[in-house]
Amino acid sequence: MGHLDGKVAVVTGAGAGMGRATAITYAREGAKVLAWDLGVALDGKSLDKNPVDEVVEEIQAEGGEAIAFHGDVASMEDAEKAIGTAVDTWGKLDILTCIAGILRERMVFNMTEDEWDDVIRVHLKGTFAPTKFAAIHWRQRREFGRLTAFSSGAFEGGAGQPNYSAAKGGIIGFVRSTALAMARYEVTANAICPSAATRMTDNTLQSQELIRKGSPVPSTVAAGTDRDPFNVPPLLVWLSSDAGRVASGRVWRAEGWHYGLYDEPREVRFLHSDGPWDMDMVFDKFHEALSYDMTTPIGRTADDIRQGN
Ligand SMILES: NC(=O)c1ccc[n+]([C@@H]2O[C@H](COP(=O)([O-])OP(=O)(O)OC[C@H]3O[C@@H](n4cnc5c(N)ncnc54)[C@H](O)[C@@H]3O)[C@@H](O)[C@H]2O)c1
Repeated sequence: MGHLDGKVAVVTGAGAGMGRATAITYAREGAKVLAWDLGVALDGKSLDKNPVDEVVEEIQAEGGEAIAFHGDVASMEDAEKAIGTAVDTWGKLDILTCIAGILRERMVFNMTEDEWDDVIRVHLKGTFAPTKFAAIHWRQRREFGRLTAFSSGAFEGGAGQPNYSAAKGGIIGFVRSTALAMARYEVTANAICPSAATRMTDNTLQSQELIRKGSPVPSTVAAGTDRDPFNVPPLLVWLSSDAGRVASGRVWRAEGWHYGLYDEPREVRFLHSDGPWDMDMVFDKFHEALSYDMTTPIGRTADDIRQGN
């Protein structure tokens, strides 16, 4: 018996990396899967062949049920078609897992408008568009719905990733909003900050340095290790299952053989004025009232960052 028996799932970015691992795992757990991918390179440029067809063949060869959908997650038209295809084929949609993504790294002062727009579009609109059409279905059905959307630890801030960090932070706000809006319809929404060796991480400076020194391309030797993309889906299966009903609006970490739950963002120090702010009072009271810990969200002080620590 699978943990997703009888469920219908749409997985975006299912052609590669963690999307592929998730589509295959959902099918192994009994879900019928619409595997959705545009078939693009890491920077979003089209590939000759869409790898999602092979993922569907793999699922079918294992006895699972899946169909491929070629389309752009950030297109409202494709999103409506993809969700409609799952519902027309299997009569309903239970699970939407938004994984598709691209990367265009550049420091903020060098970033072009296109690099900004494309990354925000694929990640942020590419989460909104499928969710909107899934939410219409879930609201009518009032029975069951599970959204999981891929954020990233980069939401805490990545120096060379202003577009990606902004998009991934945006996904957390989006998921929290959706969790509140959809709770009454038995729908949950959660964000995942994953980590695994894929073509995306093969491209980091650290991996490129290792490859230059003669190490194998990390994603090609990840199977069975803590960097295997298949380490991420078990958490998604739990969140997407009947058991996952209790968890919504939260941010989860799935990194290798470690799962975690992020704290809720909350105010930790206060300075209060009984009327219009007095500038001298702000300067007088600031340290006493607000400077509990002058570290940035990534645990380094402004001076640490200046000194390269
Ligand atoms: N790999 C990591 O360690 C890591 C860390 C944090 C977050 N993430 C996030 O996890 C997700 C999956 O990452 P991955 O490393 O498996 O990536 P990957 O590059 O291996 O796969 C991404 C897939 O998304 C597809 N895609 C891209 N743009 C699309 C579009 N517009 N429409 C439809 N499909 C599209 C690609 O064709 C590809 O198959 C991404 O959102 C990524 O930002 C990855």
